[in-house]
Amino acid sequence: MEMKQHSVIIGTGGRLGSALLTACDPHHRVTALSRKELDLTSLSAIRTVLGELEYDTLWLSAAITDVDFCETHPEVAAAVNTAAIKEIARISAEKAAKVVFFSTDYVFDGQKGELYEEEDEALPVNVYGRTKLSAERHVLAADDKNLVVRLSKLFGPQKLSFPDWVVRQAIEKDSFSLVEDHFSSPTYTEDVVAALLPLIKGETSWSGILHLCNSGVCSWLEWGQYCLDRLALEGLSFRVKEIDACLMSDIKSFIAQRPAYSAMSNARYHKLSDQVMPSWQNAVDRYVVDYLAPRLKK
Ligand SMILES: NC(=O)c1ccc[n+]([C@@H]2O[C@H](COP(=O)([O-])OP(=O)(O)OC[C@H]3O[C@@H](n4cnc5c(N)ncnc54)[C@H](OP(=O)(O)O)[C@@H]3O)[C@@H](O)[C@H]2O)c1
Repeated sequence: MEMKQHSVIIGTGGRLGSALLTACDPHHRVTALSRKELDLTSLSAIRTVLGELEYDTLWLSAAITDVDFCETHPEVAAAVNTAAIKEIARISAEKAAKVVFFSTDYVFDGQKGELYEEEDEALPVNVYGRTKLSAERHVLAADDKNLVVRLSKLFGPQKLSFPDWVVRQAIEKDSFSLVEDHFSSPTYTEDVVAALLPLIKGETSWSGILHLCNSGVCSWLEWGQYCLDRLALEGLSFRVKEIDACLMSDIKSFIAQRPAYSAMSNARYHKLSDQVMPSWQNAVDRYVVDYLAPRLKK
């Protein structure tokens, strides 16, 4: 009988972590660690919990993802987003296990003005980006076979995210505005795990840095408006039909600086897999039809 790989997934209480759990489950023996089972603020807890486990691959999606919280709590952000990751990478290297670490387009400063490639210089403009970039470097230095997967604005059915927030605004308000001068690539959790399936199945051994996002570029405003327009095609209309435009500088509640243009290129993924990441519009279409519209029609 074929021996199943043993995977550890850290962050299964989160959006991507729970999608990874569903994707890995049929193929691996999985140990799922949410914050309840492992608090990353404790290096000794990391040593105890991982020390007892034998595993082939460790998927690391847990992080403090609230960019403004990181800005105001840099020590906590550094502890969870960097120090914990460094320790996990060290322990995993001792066990000869591969680490797949999930990082972010926010490692870039947003000045390039065109799609970011893996080899572009990372120059984060906020604490979150700096803590994630440091973690990337520790993961890559710990073992040549490790992989850093950079994602952009994640959305999916596992947890409420931007499209759900837009719909709530459109239902509850008479008007609202979204930023038209910041651009990135929405990233559907279902498409991330589908793209990683060859790795999950053990058919490939990708390492280094890999960008993964839906293809195309949009502003927050274009993304939000597309969500409402797509829901209208499903027969759902709301108080707000046209979202107003604003500038990032109008949003006074944002504390951390955000890169103005952090869209990424999937060219390396295409080269490795011969597959194309679906467009962000196609991803939103599927999210609306499969999850959002049915939930709203209930
Ligand atoms: N979300 C995005 O738009 C985005 C964009 C680019 C890259 N990424 C990266 O992609 C990865 C997955 O993001 P996501 O959207 O799935 O994030 P998420 O839903 O916020 O999940 C992150 C998970 O980390 C856990 N966590 C936070 N602090 C912890 C601690 N001290 N100990 C243990 N667990 C802790 C959270 O636990 P609780 O559930 O208990 O809070 C949460 O379940 C992250 O590494 C993120 O940096 C995300």
